[in-house]
Order: sequence, then structure tokens, then C-alpha cells
Amino acid sequence: MSDQKLVVAVTGTTLPCFRRLTQFSALRNPAWRCNPPILSVSSLCMTSARPEITSPEAASDADSFDVPGVEDGAAIWRLARDSKTLDLNSSYSYLLWCRDFARTSVIARSADGEPAGFITGYVRPDEPRALVVWQVAVDAAQRGRGLAGRMLDHLADRVAGDAEPGSPVREIETTITADNAASIALFSAFARRRGTSVERRVLFDDALFPDGHPAEELHRIPLH
Ligand SMILES: CC(C)(COP(=O)(O)OP(=O)(O)OC[C@H]1O[C@@H](n2cnc3c(N)ncnc32)[C@H](O)[C@@H]1OP(=O)(O)O)[C@@H](O)C(=O)NCCC(=O)NCCS
Repeated sequence: MSDQKLVVAVTGTTLPCFRRLTQFSALRNPAWRCNPPILSVSSLCMTSARPEITSPEAASDADSFDVPGVEDGAAIWRLARDSKTLDLNSSYSYLLWCRDFARTSVIARSADGEPAGFITGYVRPDEPRALVVWQVAVDAAQRGRGLAGRMLDHLADRVAGDAEPGSPVREIETTITADNAASIALFSAFARRRGTSVERRVLFDDALFPDGHPAEELHRIPLH
């Protein structure tokens, strides 16, 4: 090592370990102050980081979005249960949903193939222009990195986009309770990304519910 030069090619990183390295080596080897030995940055950094999923972008790229199958029904039931926010329907209903309404639903899997989120949706029987998003949830550990937004984009593109030229779907509908800031933000961000608006009105007043359930507001998003 004593006869090697340390030349640090700084690629815009100010890694503390790096600064320490140079300070330490300069201290121990006054000669290095002016002509240090050669070491590559990337080999330093890579030893500590897992190359495969090292950033939200990489994590995002590794997510997959599929049409759910009945074998996904149990995972969707668990995601709904663990959300602690959604009304939990029977496990049977999620299996049935994955059989009969899979084409208007999405299951998201993270890089390890594990179910990370879902959307259950259906086209209104009497209003085929409207795709209703009934439930959406993302595993708590996977939140805040755009997964729900991408599930919604994926579903809208699949059901109402170029992939479905004959599709009559021209709007997304969902209902949200007034206290659910995350979901309100999710659908507002979706509308913003598509250059459209969100029309809101109470659909089910709380007096309609037999069990103290809060009022549900309809959020209607025309798709241009
Ligand atoms: C709602 C939910 C699906 C969002 O999932 P997510 O993957 O974290 O959402 P995203 O990362 O795609 O964020 C979508 C938007 O919502 C915003 N958002 C997400 N969580 C938020 C929160 N807790 N409070 C405020 N805004 C929030 C994000 O900033 C983003 O907006 P932006 O694009 O303007 O930045 C998730 O919080 C969840 O599963 N909640 C429990 C179930 C539930 O409430 N479902 C909706 C019932 S109507």
C-alpha cells in the first residue's frame, strides 16, 4: 500500500466515511497530503448498500401490478384487515371478487413477490361509464412511496385507457369518509396527474347506516 497513490474521484457524494478516510490517511501519511494513493468510490459505497433495491425508484421499478386470481383472495382479505381502516368484508367475498371482478381490480406485489396492496373495483351495472373503486389498501410498511397512486394509474389505464379501446368507462368513482386524509390525497393526486377534477358530494349520509358508520362522500373523477 505504501507505494500506491490515493486519488479520490468525487462523484458528488460527501459520504462521511469517505471524508474520514481521506482525513485519516492524510494524517498518517503526510506525503499523501499532496499526492494520495488511488481508490475507486463505487467499490467503497457498494460494499455497504444492497445493489438490487437501494432507492425508492429501484423499489418502485420492482413492483408489479396484476389482475388478481382467487388465490390472491386471502392476501387481499389480510391487507384489508390489517389496514384497520377499511370495512372488512368476509373472506368469501374477496375470493368471489377475485373470480368475478378481477378485470376491474388490481393486486400489487413488491420486489419479493409479496402482495403489497390492492384495489377492488367494478363497473356500475346501470352506469357502464363509471368504474367504482370500492376498496384500496397498501401494506403499512409499503406506504408513502406512490404504490397506491400507481395501482390507480394502472387500473385506469387498463380499464379505460388505450388497452381497452371499446371500453365505455369515462370516469372513476369512489367513496371516502371525511376523516381519511390519505385517501382524499390519493384521489386528488390522481386527478391532478390526469389534468382533471374531483367532484365531491355526500353519497351515503351517516343516518342511512344502521351501525354508526360515518357518512361516505362520493368522489367522481371524469377521465378525459
Ligand atoms: C390510502 C392508502 C392506500 C395510500 O397508500 P400509499 O401507497 O401510501 O399512497 P401513495 O404513496 O401513492 O400517495 C398518494 C398520495 O396521497 C398522499 N398521502 C399518502 N398518505 C397520506 C397521509 N397519511 N396523509 C396525507 N396524504 C397522504 C401522498 O402524498 C400522495 O399525494 P401526492 O402525489 O400529492 O404526493 C394507504 O394509506 C392505506 O392503505 N390506508 C388504509 C386503507 C384506506 O384508508 N384506504 C382508503 C379507503 S377510502
